[in-house]
Amino acid sequence: MRAIEIKEYGGPDVLQPCERPMPGLKQGEVLIRVHAAGVNRPDVFQRTGNYPVPPGASDLPGLEVAGEIVDGDLAGSGFRKGDLVCALVQGGGYAEYCAAPLGQCLPVPKGLSALQAAALPENYFTVWSNVFDRGGLSAGETLLVQGGSSGIGVTAIQIAKALGHRVFATAGSADKCRACEELGAERAINYKTEDFEAVVKEITGGRGVDVILDMVGGDYLPREIKALADDGRLVFIAQLGGSKGQLDMGQVMRRRLTITGSTLRPRPVAFKAAIAASLRERVWPLIEAGWIKPVIHQTFPLEQAAQAHAMMESSAHIGKIMLEL
Ligand SMILES: NC(=O)c1ccc[n+]([C@@H]2O[C@H](COP(=O)([O-])OP(=O)(O)OC[C@H]3O[C@@H](n4cnc5c(N)ncnc54)[C@H](OP(=O)(O)O)[C@@H]3O)[C@@H](O)[C@H]2O)c1
Repeated sequence: MRAIEIKEYGGPDVLQPCERPMPGLKQGEVLIRVHAAGVNRPDVFQRTGNYPVPPGASDLPGLEVAGEIVDGDLAGSGFRKGDLVCALVQGGGYAEYCAAPLGQCLPVPKGLSALQAAALPENYFTVWSNVFDRGGLSAGETLLVQGGSSGIGVTAIQIAKALGHRVFATAGSADKCRACEELGAERAINYKTEDFEAVVKEITGGRGVDVILDMVGGDYLPREIKALADDGRLVFIAQLGGSKGQLDMGQVMRRRLTITGSTLRPRPVAFKAAIAASLRERVWPLIEAGWIKPVIHQTFPLEQAAQAHAMMESSAHIGKIMLEL
């Protein structure tokens, strides 16, 4: 089959087209003929040697695909061969065929193309797990999304808004801020010209927000602590601004704050299957009703994966960058 491999760790050009054997199936996996795959920041980290492949996973990049089920034991799953699904995978998405655990497959939502559906799994699983399960965002609560124009960010804004929450976001340009507001953020904060802590305090009448989804970390930490409401939760999913920051423990105790975080990829299939079930029940109906639509910035042919990575590293994008076969 055709695939894109990481020849050696380095810049986008190390992503090269290759021929690989078809993936073998482990128990509980299905084979998907890939129509489209999403590009995610963790793929960039894998390419540069900063995100090791978990044991047993494909060394090919790619954490999400959509396409047709062509093989596997489907007994009792409700899926049949030929069905179009999207799936969160352990790697190997940049390829003509990809193995996926059955529990991590979801039907392509009605009204979406396979390309649009391939934009969902990595971001939707991550956002559901961190904002709703871990962060516990519940009725009447407010959310601040750092990196609001990222693939993750637009997803968090859209889902939280569709579920009735007030959402605020940060982004690095006026255009990105406008996009965040068009997607449902009540107020987008340009972090290059404004202080998110001051703005959040002002728009919440001094109270702060209940949950912050953060991919920046570093010197954001003390400001995020101040931007949280009492009993607030700060959830880290990345550390683009550095892994160390100053923490005022007095604030954490006095105001009963929770600081947490997680990484999705190493979690077991059963954990991810539970997220898939929640998404199918709570979020798929919102997509099918037209409340949420994936935001695709640009689509490249599979062979141009290097250009897709260069675009991601330029941070020019708003939403998802995709590969199509
Ligand atoms: N923990 C997990 O399970 C998990 C799963 C998936 C992804 N992730 C992580 O989540 C992050 C987003 O992933 P993605 O695929 O959506 O990547 P992406 O689209 O490339 O997003 C990265 C974003 O970070 C923003 N950013 C950088 N510095 C910032 C700052 N100081 N303040 C606010 N925003 C800032 C950039 O926006 P500007 O251009 O506006 O600066 C950009 O939109 C990545 O770091 C990825 O590794 C974690």
